[in-house]
Amino acid sequence: MKSGDSRPIGIFDSGMGGLTVFNEVKKSLPNEDIIYFGDTAHLPYGNKSPESVTEFSLRIRDFFKEKKVKLMLVACNTASVYAIEKLQKSSDIPVLGVVDAGVRAALKYEPESCGIIGTYGTIKSGSYEKKLNNASGSKLRLLSKACPLFVPLVEEGWLDNDITRAVAHRYLDIFKDKIDLLILGCTHYPLLIDIISEVVGKKVRVINSAVEIAAQVRRETENLNLGAAKKGSASYKFYVSDSPELFKEQSTIFMNGTDGKIKKKDLNS
Ligand code: DGL
Repeated sequence: MKSGDSRPIGIFDSGMGGLTVFNEVKKSLPNEDIIYFGDTAHLPYGNKSPESVTEFSLRIRDFFKEKKVKLMLVACNTASVYAIEKLQKSSDIPVLGVVDAGVRAALKYEPESCGIIGTYGTIKSGSYEKKLNNASGSKLRLLSKACPLFVPLVEEGWLDNDITRAVAHRYLDIFKDKIDLLILGCTHYPLLIDIISEVVGKKVRVINSAVEIAAQVRRETENLNLGAAKKGSASYKFYVSDSPELFKEQSTIFMNGTDGKIKKKDLNS
């Protein structure tokens, strides 16, 4: 065990949605250097096959290995669902995924019924359901729904308008009076948290996996003695597999400008 580990934390997503996780990790661990990888050339992951998403994720693992990251964080729910086990088995550093973080957070509140929303891939995999059932002894009533249109609505910046509200009703009315907790199983959904809460009802506790995984990274770096020794002036580097200029433009919805350089990294090279 070493103390004062100055290696960066690696965070990856299919694109810019994982910046919701980056923002939370940055807040929770302000002294840590972070390398963010957005696989914009392969975006979206939500409707790709498990094989493709796993293959992309393994290539990103190799890139992070080159960059000597000390801990890898899978910010993308779809990649967490499909690739986390392979990533964990094939890495010699801790690999954390948003799905486990979301499940753990949900169970803390001992809900009787729980809703899950995510991409087609995440919902079709039934991964959240399996993990919730295993951990709760199948005591929970579960209801899930894929909400694919939420992703382009967020990317368009339509966080609160009539169209987004109508789409939210179309997807989420099935949850009305049926759940006491809802897991946001997609990187983009925290930006719609107000509309989602309004539609499912204010009594429903909404779990934002980005916040949960940031707390887990903090615990993990402390427990494993992986925390950086320095204080302040952490560095942030961004890599994307498609155009850095486009990423800069499109990421403004997720954060106020990337406070670090954005470089292109072709995953095939
Ligand atoms: N990052 C993805 C997720 O959390 C959403 C966007 C995509 O489909 O790539 O599942």
